[in-house]
Amino acid sequence: MIELKQVSKTYQLKNNTLNALDHINLTINDGDILGVVGYSGAGKSTLIRLINKLITPTTGQIIIDGIDILTLNKKALNRMRQQIGMIFQDFNLFDQLTVYQNIKLALDISGQTEYHKQKIIDLLELVGLQDKINAYPKQLSGGQKQRVAIARALSNNPKYLLCDEATYALDLKTTDDILNLLKDIQKKTGITIIFITHQIESIKKLCRDVVVMDEGLIVEQNNVIDLFMNPKHAVTKSLVKQSIHLDDTLTNVYELIYQTNADDASTLSEVIKKYNVDMNILHAQVLDIIDQHIGYLYIKITGKDIAHALTYIKSKGIQVNRYDSI
Ligand SMILES: Nc1ncnc2c1ncn2[C@@H]1O[C@H](COP(=O)(O)OP(=O)(O)OP(=O)(O)O)[C@@H](O)[C@H]1O
Ligand SMILES: [Mg+2]
Repeated sequence: MIELKQVSKTYQLKNNTLNALDHINLTINDGDILGVVGYSGAGKSTLIRLINKLITPTTGQIIIDGIDILTLNKKALNRMRQQIGMIFQDFNLFDQLTVYQNIKLALDISGQTEYHKQKIIDLLELVGLQDKINAYPKQLSGGQKQRVAIARALSNNPKYLLCDEATYALDLKTTDDILNLLKDIQKKTGITIIFITHQIESIKKLCRDVVVMDEGLIVEQNNVIDLFMNPKHAVTKSLVKQSIHLDDTLTNVYELIYQTNADDASTLSEVIKKYNVDMNILHAQVLDIIDQHIGYLYIKITGKDIAHALTYIKSKGIQVNRYDSI
């Protein structure tokens, strides 16, 4: 388990100070896949880099498996770091080393000198790159490079995997492949994944729990389904809106959000008949969020008994929000 307690990081700039993180409290449970999402400059990278002490906080505690890592000496910190693998946006591979040598280097640094070859073959098999063992990074695609980086990050059998914009440089299909690979690895190994991104699309495919950051603060935290069904903070709403592809501004509109296992289509036709109302659908979208489907409907309602119609819709477990403009 990772716990951040009252963690702040302040940078002293020429004329002022910048609070990159402002009294953050966060608990990350073992086996979780936690997404951290927010716009550029929100403090996401700062947060993740504190966890393996690439950055030292200005104040606060970072407790990993009961130990405050800020109290560790160099040797103990290195041991702790072996529990934490990390992958980055730009892969960070050594161009002059082969795939095999890149992974071997990580094993050498951690003092694992035995069974290299088999271990590396096993890791490459896990990430689906056995046939590239002797290739150099420049002979690999972006997705393949990230697979090598993942294999290398897993070489010490870490308990935690930190991913900082790991799919940023990849196209949509390759992003999906890498997200599926991470999901697979999590299932096989039980590793805890902390996945930082500004792409809400990746969050909904991979993460169980989500933290939304803005200006150095955690502004919202929820499981992924509830976050999408009931976004509260303006940043969360704006990220979810991107996902729904709601480009136009709609005025005087009702937003209906529902899990599609319910009998929704029949609910709406029932309401139309029962309450003598009419519905004009302006936008509709179903999002696949991990293994569930969530529907978003934007409608105008006209007719006699709108209030009772809405009460009935709500009674069927459909969430209703009214917006003057959205
Ligand atoms: N070494 C530094 N010196 C001064 N300011 C810094 C430093 N590192 C980060 N910052 C500032 O801290 C804030 C948070 O930066 P951070 O890199 O954590 O954001 P981020 O959420 O990862 O953004 P992005 O999505 O662009 O990667 C930003 O305003 C940034 O300019
Ligand atoms: Mg960043």
